[in-house]
Amino acid sequence: MSNDPLLQPYKLKHLTLRNRIMITSHEPAYPEDGMPKGRYRAYHVERAKAGVALTMTAGSASVAQDSPPVFNNILAWKDEVVGWMKQMVDECHDHGAAVMIQLTHLGRRTRWDKADWLPVVAPSHEREAAHRAFPKRIEDWDITRIISDFADAAERMKAAGVDGIELEAYGHLLEQFWSPLTNDLEAPYGGSLDNRLRFTFDVLRAIRARCGEDFIVGLRYTGDQCQPGGMTAAEGLEVSHKLKNSGLVDFLNVVRGAIDTDPALTDLIPIQGMKNAPHLDFAGEIRAATGFPTFHAAKIPDVATARHAIASGKLDMVGMTRAHMADPHLVRKVIEGREDDIRPCVGANYCLDRIYQGGLAFCLHNPATGREETMPHSIPAAATKKRITIVGAGPAGMEAARVAGERGHAVTVFEAADQPGGQIRLTAQDERRREMISVIAWRQAQCEKLGVDFRFNTFADAADILATNPDEVIIATGGLPHTEVLSGGNDLVVSAWDILSGDVKPGSNVLIYDDAGDHAALQAADLISATGAAVEIVTPDRSFSPEVMAMNLVPYMRNLQKRDTTFTVTWRLMSVAREGNALRATLGSDYGDFRRERLVDQVVVNHGTRPLDELYFELKPQSSNLGEVDYRALTAGAVQDVRRNTEGRFRLFRIGDAVAARNTHAAIYDALRLVKDL
Ligand SMILES: Cc1cc2nc3c(=O)[nH]c(=O)nc-3n(C[C@H](O)[C@H](O)[C@H](O)COP(=O)(O)O)c2cc1C
Ligand code: SF4
Repeated sequence: MSNDPLLQPYKLKHLTLRNRIMITSHEPAYPEDGMPKGRYRAYHVERAKAGVALTMTAGSASVAQDSPPVFNNILAWKDEVVGWMKQMVDECHDHGAAVMIQLTHLGRRTRWDKADWLPVVAPSHEREAAHRAFPKRIEDWDITRIISDFADAAERMKAAGVDGIELEAYGHLLEQFWSPLTNDLEAPYGGSLDNRLRFTFDVLRAIRARCGEDFIVGLRYTGDQCQPGGMTAAEGLEVSHKLKNSGLVDFLNVVRGAIDTDPALTDLIPIQGMKNAPHLDFAGEIRAATGFPTFHAAKIPDVATARHAIASGKLDMVGMTRAHMADPHLVRKVIEGREDDIRPCVGANYCLDRIYQGGLAFCLHNPATGREETMPHSIPAAATKKRITIVGAGPAGMEAARVAGERGHAVTVFEAADQPGGQIRLTAQDERRREMISVIAWRQAQCEKLGVDFRFNTFADAADILATNPDEVIIATGGLPHTEVLSGGNDLVVSAWDILSGDVKPGSNVLIYDDAGDHAALQAADLISATGAAVEIVTPDRSFSPEVMAMNLVPYMRNLQKRDTTFTVTWRLMSVAREGNALRATLGSDYGDFRRERLVDQVVVNHGTRPLDELYFELKPQSSNLGEVDYRALTAGAVQDVRRNTEGRFRLFRIGDAVAARNTHAAIYDALRLVKDL
């Protein structure tokens, strides 16, 4: 048996967990009709198969009708949930993983215009900034109703065969009672700490009465709200002791901070560029003080830190949640001594930011996550070995090379630069986004193991491609910034890439025109404003940087707001003209014939990329499919079989931004989806 601290079993009450790695509760917004159906089940089963000890399913599964999900959570208040949960639990159990579920009432952390349009309740009328609902102050009959809703939901989960449940007590209703910031009730549920905890203990007692002493029940709660007027660490410790001493809970799952604003949420769940494991010591202090089973997760992306968390006795179970979204086979790779093969979570937070926009949680660089029913995490070998030639070693080309290599094909990659990475290499020059380079570095290491032939510093032409005698050619040449969007003065502007690459020095009074709304504009603004320059970001959209999304915006704002930076929405850059040493920028509006003028010394335009597609069009007439992709076959996971030119000796495809400007996830998904069937 291994002596790896991470792989030692852990006994929680009667339950033996096979190792120390867990997936903490996270709602990927996969339910269908509020139920964990096929997509949901496949996601958890994939991770159970690969060895995770405990998967805490759902995230904020709702116990009551007046706690409508804001991003498609499981509806634990419906009886039909039992059957769906049971299927998932049984299948995960078949693979040796324990399964629990997080239950909650969101209180004010939702909206009244969802589902049944019931009023939102909370222990005060204070609004939560993130979800904006002004709540009804909770009444006695609400309290009685919600206590029994919790017990009903727990009983349903017990019937579904879960190994236990955890209650969510940070930012949601339970904690809204705890915190003086959100509870202005009178006794018995407001006032002293014991009064503020009363609702939680009433809920726990009701659950125990219904589910018995043996049922495992834990709490996921904040040990320190880190907010003026909120619960302090000292109070948090008192709560931890009270929870333990109540005899009503079996484990503590500790977080630190608050979630009522985007910045607070981002400190609680840190993203790339922020410190790893920032709250681990804090959780360890609670474990040391209480001597009680303690779980914790917050940006512990790598096995070494996770191992330290267990070996040092800070935690009993370490959460590696996004790490498991990036690589579901993480535990198997640890067991097999293949830690180097683990696809790293790079903290891009595409997963989490998407759910707040109403989308499904997808991993930036693992498109099979959440698509387990159609996309493989392990690429099967091809029956027929082919020669596959790829042009471009950005994210799309690198994924194509990796997948083709896994298929067992002979793969050649041409890249004009001296190293792989494309746009990602540019992004990762920013110290704060340095983790992005692992998207490329992991693929490069995998490709090297698979014997992919890289030809760097080679601007391949058609003859170079044909000389490899390919069966399949994949064009992944990406794009170049497109800045020619003005009625005059296109020659006077620079691109965001010019700034990021260092090719153009920042001006001192700069207008950034952002018509793409993605990271490039904000990265340029960050870099320019850091020099002390004044920066105005102008966008024709209603809000700025829509593609960057909520939590990813936080580090940018923390830099930009402390500098001389302004944002101007709903204005469009029309033209730029030289005026002495300066540039006169004319803004127009989609709302009417309005004009504004700006006098600056630099104009930066961020307007996405245009495909680099000459090679594709040159090769197209010689290919057997004339570049055509059968979309029905592609989306159904079937083999491509387009033949339009009997003379053609190879098939031709293009992927990623070489087709149209999109994002990293789209580029990598293009590659996986196509190449897995080549
Ligand atoms: C898509 C997604 C949804 C999440 N939803 C919840 C949730 O509903 N309840 C919860 O307690 N935590 C939720 N989390 C937070 C995770 O449980 C975990 O605390 C967080 O991701 C930090 O751990 P990690 O760095 O190992 O990913 C969510 C995380 C993600 C990525
Ligand atoms: S999207 Fe980013 S943060 Fe989320 S799992 Fe993937 S790599 Fe990690």
